[in-house]
Amino acid sequence: MQPEDLNNLVSRAARRLAEAGVDTPLLDARLLLQAVTGWSREEMILDPSRPIGDGQTRQFDALIARRVMREPVARILGEREFYGRSFRVTPDTLDPRPDTETLVGAALHLMPPRARLLDLGTGTGAVIITLLAERPDATGLGTDISAAALAVATANAERHAVADRLQLVQGSWFSPVRGRFDTILSNPPYIPSADIAGLSPDVRRFDPLAALDGGADGLEAYRRIAAAAKAHLAPEGHVLVEIGLGQGPDVSAVFVAAGFAAAGERSDLGGRLRCLMFREEKK
Ligand SMILES: C[S@@+](CC[C@H](N)C(=O)[O-])C[C@H]1O[C@@H](n2cnc3c(N)ncnc32)[C@H](O)[C@@H]1O
Repeated sequence: MQPEDLNNLVSRAARRLAEAGVDTPLLDARLLLQAVTGWSREEMILDPSRPIGDGQTRQFDALIARRVMREPVARILGEREFYGRSFRVTPDTLDPRPDTETLVGAALHLMPPRARLLDLGTGTGAVIITLLAERPDATGLGTDISAAALAVATANAERHAVADRLQLVQGSWFSPVRGRFDTILSNPPYIPSADIAGLSPDVRRFDPLAALDGGADGLEAYRRIAAAAKAHLAPEGHVLVEIGLGQGPDVSAVFVAAGFAAAGERSDLGGRLRCLMFREEKK
C-alpha cells in the first residue's frame, strides 16, 4: 500500500475531529501531526504531499483518537504556550487559558520595582512564573490546595529559571501565607457548581474539578480571598482577580464589602471583562 501523504492524512483526521464536535479540527490535526513528525508549520505548508510512514501514521491516529474523546491538544502534548513561554500541564493542573494573559498584563502594569507577588491557586504556576520571568527584580509566593499541582509548578519554575525567586506552599487560600505582598493575584475556581455538568467536554472531562468549582454561586473563592487579603497587602498594594463571564458586579460587591476600592479593570481579547483590580479603601 502507498504511504498516505500529509494532506490526505490531515484532511481525514480533521473530518473525524469535526464529526466529534471539535471547534478547530484542522488546526488541531496539524498540531498533532507536527508533534508526531517534528516538522514545522512552514515545512508542512510548503510540502503538503510529503509521504508519512506507517509508524508515524499509527502514532498520529492514536493522538487523534484522544482528541476525538475531546482531550485538549495541550493535555495530549503535556505542554501549553502561555505569554510566549511553554508550561508543563498534567491532569492535576488547569490547562492555562489565553484569557488569563489579561491578568498577567494588568499585573505587569501595577507591579512596583522589586515587587513581592502572591499568586493564590497557582496551578501550573503560569501566572506567577511569567511575572517573575518578565521582572527579574520581583520575588513571589504561590499557593495551591493541590500538592500535585505544586509539583508541576516547581518543574515549570525550574524550566523558566525563576525557582530561586519563587516559594511554593500548599494550603487553602491564605492559610499557609505569612507576610505582606505588593501584588496579590488569583485566577480562582469560579464556575457555579450546577453549571459544571453543562461545560464543554474538553473542560468538564479534563480540567480538575478543584480548578473549576466556585461553589453554589461561583463566588466562594472570591469571598475567602477578599476576607483575608487586607492582612497580607502591603501599603499601596493591589489585589487582582480573574473573573468569569458576567461576574464583574458580584465580584466587585464582594471586595467592596470587605473594605476595598476598585482600582481598574481589563477585558480579554474577545472584549469580555476578565480582570478586576482593587486597592485598600482609604478611611
Ligand atoms: C482556575 S485554576 C487557576 C490555575 C492557574 N493560576 C492558572 O491561571 O492557570 C484554580 C486553582 O486554584 C486551586 N484551588 C482550588 N481551591 C483552592 C483552595 N481552597 N486554596 C488554594 N488553591 C485552591 C486549584 O487547585 C487550581 O490550581
